[in-house]
Amino acid sequence: MKTIKVRGKKRLGGCLQVQGAKNSVLPILAATLLINGRSVIHNCPDLTDVDAALKILIMLGCVCVRDETTVIVDASDAANYEISKELMSEMRSSVVFLGAVISRMGKAVISYPGGCELGPRPIDLHLSALKKMGVSVNDADDRLICSASGGIRGAEIFLTFPSVGATENIIIAACLSKGTTVIKNAAKEPEISDLCDFLNKAGAKIKGAGSSTVIIEGVNKLHSVEHRVLPDRIVAATYLSAAAVTNGEICLKNTGAANMLSIIRFFDDMGCNIKTNGKEIYLKGKEKYSACLDITTGVYPAFPTDAGPVTLPLFLKSDGSNSITETIFKNRFRYIDQLNKFNADITLDGNTAISNGIKELIGANVECTDLRGGAALILAALMAEGESVIYKTYHIERGYCNIVNCFAELGADIKEL
Ligand code: UD1
Repeated sequence: MKTIKVRGKKRLGGCLQVQGAKNSVLPILAATLLINGRSVIHNCPDLTDVDAALKILIMLGCVCVRDETTVIVDASDAANYEISKELMSEMRSSVVFLGAVISRMGKAVISYPGGCELGPRPIDLHLSALKKMGVSVNDADDRLICSASGGIRGAEIFLTFPSVGATENIIIAACLSKGTTVIKNAAKEPEISDLCDFLNKAGAKIKGAGSSTVIIEGVNKLHSVEHRVLPDRIVAATYLSAAAVTNGEICLKNTGAANMLSIIRFFDDMGCNIKTNGKEIYLKGKEKYSACLDITTGVYPAFPTDAGPVTLPLFLKSDGSNSITETIFKNRFRYIDQLNKFNADITLDGNTAISNGIKELIGANVECTDLRGGAALILAALMAEGESVIYKTYHIERGYCNIVNCFAELGADIKEL
């Protein structure tokens, strides 16, 4: 099992290209199933979650070719409708394949994604929407057997919570349906707009992406398409934070800063020198900060839940009291115990993590509990005096390409064991 070793207290500096967004590319890969032809996807990050998505497509009968950051999927001969339990559990967001498989094959057999590191992962909103669209759902031995014998039909769907995955599943299922689907209280995340851009380029008729009402008019066919995935805003936040906590200086290229306003505002409010021209973001950190912030995570455009763990280490360099309140996932804070092993003093009060003043971090041996929590441990190790060893880094590989090389290029003393 891979581990990462870090010797901290180096100031990070330099320029970095931000990878393509994991949360865009996964639903886009699922959507390639709708296309009777080739989908050429550029800026595709090299991640274990992407590997898992490609394995699912291959299992369904697609031909997938990868050349560095370009992936080509040919779904012309896709004929299978069943995804194995193993593949379903390899990637927690595999449920986004459900709408695509039913749309293409008229039926789908998948497993429940189960719970994950961040807490329960119910899919009730996905299933109730698909049922309204004419899909029957049967539960048998932990397998979900879904079919749409009369075809998928357009429907008006109100989401009681603007779930990202449910919005994506409905959009994908609706593209080739009969009639028009209207999603009210849809999720507005930029990755949903990216999925809709991809589908519209292929001939879909989707309006309102990025707003809380998305309207999808069903079409008969989607054609071959070429698309560039948008930059990953959470990865960008991670590297900005790394520069901020090490009193460093960074320029991020290919960032899509317009989608990162709450994150940019956070660094500004903390007291970092942060500037952007839209495509690039420049940040210069400080030795210490004096902010007193109470951040609350929320659905877009609020502060993203995934950015919480990677920005929280900055609180440890502030002599004020700072907190972050999590509103999306029940078990988001499992990494806090590990962070405290570095001599951090973060207390939990319900769904709020509180940091009281500056802490000099000391190297520690820690275990990743989840993807973003794992990235937070690397940031703590970069800040700490002495050596740290981070175990179970496979969590980090789900969402960050070459994280060790990227930090080494910025001047960190870091290596993979
Ligand atoms: C996506 C992102 C994830 C991000 C999250 C919130 C991907 C691959 N993952 O996850 O990185 O943290 O959005 O921005 O894009 N819920 C239900 N019933 C449902 C669906 C969701 O109760 O049917 C609940 C979930 O348990 C969770 C909340 O709604 O508490 C948010 O989930 P959702 O927006 O669906 O997140 P994901 O699509 O799973």
